[in-house]
Formats: sequence, structure tokens, C-alpha cells
Amino acid sequence: MIFAGNWKLNLGPKEVKLLLNELKSKLSNEEMKSCFFFPQNLSLSAALETREESSFLLGSQNIHSKSEGAFTGENSIKVLEEVGAELALVGHSERRNIFGETDSDLNEKMLACVDSKIIPMLCIGEKLEERESSKTNSVLDRQLSIALAGFPTDKQLYIAYEPVWAIGTGKVASPEMAEDAHAYIRKWLEENFSKDKSDSTMLLYGGSVKAENAGDLSKMPNIDGFLIGGASLKAESFVGIIKNSK
Ligand code: PGA
Repeated sequence: MIFAGNWKLNLGPKEVKLLLNELKSKLSNEEMKSCFFFPQNLSLSAALETREESSFLLGSQNIHSKSEGAFTGENSIKVLEEVGAELALVGHSERRNIFGETDSDLNEKMLACVDSKIIPMLCIGEKLEERESSKTNSVLDRQLSIALAGFPTDKQLYIAYEPVWAIGTGKVASPEMAEDAHAYIRKWLEENFSKDKSDSTMLLYGGSVKAENAGDLSKMPNIDGFLIGGASLKAESFVGIIKNSK
């Protein structure tokens, strides 16, 4: 299992150091190795300083499809790689819904990772009205088809399924609902890439994951990890999720 903390616009450098040190004291080396963290970029160097060799991985919450040039305010994949991060979130629902990122913008970002060491974590998921009108699978199909067009089979990626209605709302998807979506994504990868790609791509669930619901969700066969927002901001709740997972 992978436990990924999306810290969003929270935690400055001092708080990042405190939290990571607290996690190190409560988790084994093996458990720390299964963690990914996405700090805001201004706190990334504090996280890197706190990391010892072969421990958790770090990433940016957003990247730009161009590595350099006149793109004020954007984050370069090349620089991310240079400072020592390994990952990038692509298409978190807040990027899609607040900042207007489209599926084709996300395709450019996914393709921009191909020639770098940065491994993208593509975030997908339906809105409440789409679930209520039984459009979940067709939304996932659209998001995957566009964002992954031209993405090479041999480049690693992670996929996070995050139903928009479950993010930050306290309304978690039931284990069965999450499993259905994950199984759909697994099948999609097999049909559009290969059986190997489908088997080797880790699928994370995100949306109101807490210590109390992590156990049941983690038992689902196609859930390989969690992308955690609110509950990743405090050591106690993040550790609780890890300890309660299978
Ligand atoms: P949440 O956020 O755990 O606070 O629902 C998840 C996310 O936005 O990735």
C-alpha cells in the first residue's frame, strides 16, 4: 500500500519539518518508505532536508507542461527533478475545478513527464451529479482517454481515483463503490495499454480517507493506496490510516 499526503496550501517549512520528524518517530522505516508527500513547493526543500536516503518520496502538487520559458508562476518539471523530487500530481480536482485545467491540458502535462524522471500521479473522478446520473464510468473513460493519449506503456504512472463529492466533505465512497471504480480503471488500462501495465499500475483512492474507514477500503483488491488530504496534516490521523490498513 502507498500512503500519499496531499498537503494542499497548508504547512510551511517549519511545520513540514515538525510533521515529518514526528512521523519518523511513529512509523518504521518500511512504513516511511511507503509514504509520498506533496507539500506546497515553497516547503519542498524543508521536506528534502528532513529526508534520509531511501525513505518517503516527494512531489509537486502541480507542474507545467513546459520546463522553461515565459510562464510566470508555474512549476518546472526539470527543476523539480533537479531539486530531488520524484513525483507530481496531475489533474487534482481542485486544479480542474478551481483553476480550469482541462483534460487536454492534463494530457500535455502527462506527456511532459515522459522524458523526465518525474512520475506523474493522474487524478480522476466524477462529480456528484455525474454519479447520480450513472455517468461515473463514462467520465472516467473520458478523463483517462484524453489525459493518457500518447502516453508510453513503459513510462510509470500512478492513478488516483478521487470522486469530487468525497474530497474534503467527510463523505467517503463505500469500499464497494471505490472498488467498482478501481476495477473499471484496471480494465481500462488492460484494454488501452496492456495486461502488464494494468497489473503494475498502482491505483490510489482519495476522498475523506481517515483512520476509521481506511481498514475496509484497504481490503479491496484493486485499492493499492490512498491519496489523503485533511487527515495527512496531523501525524496522529495519518499514522492511524497506515496502522489500520491491511
Ligand atoms: P481529503 O482530500 O482527504 O481531505 O478528502 C483528498 C484530496 O484532495 O486529495
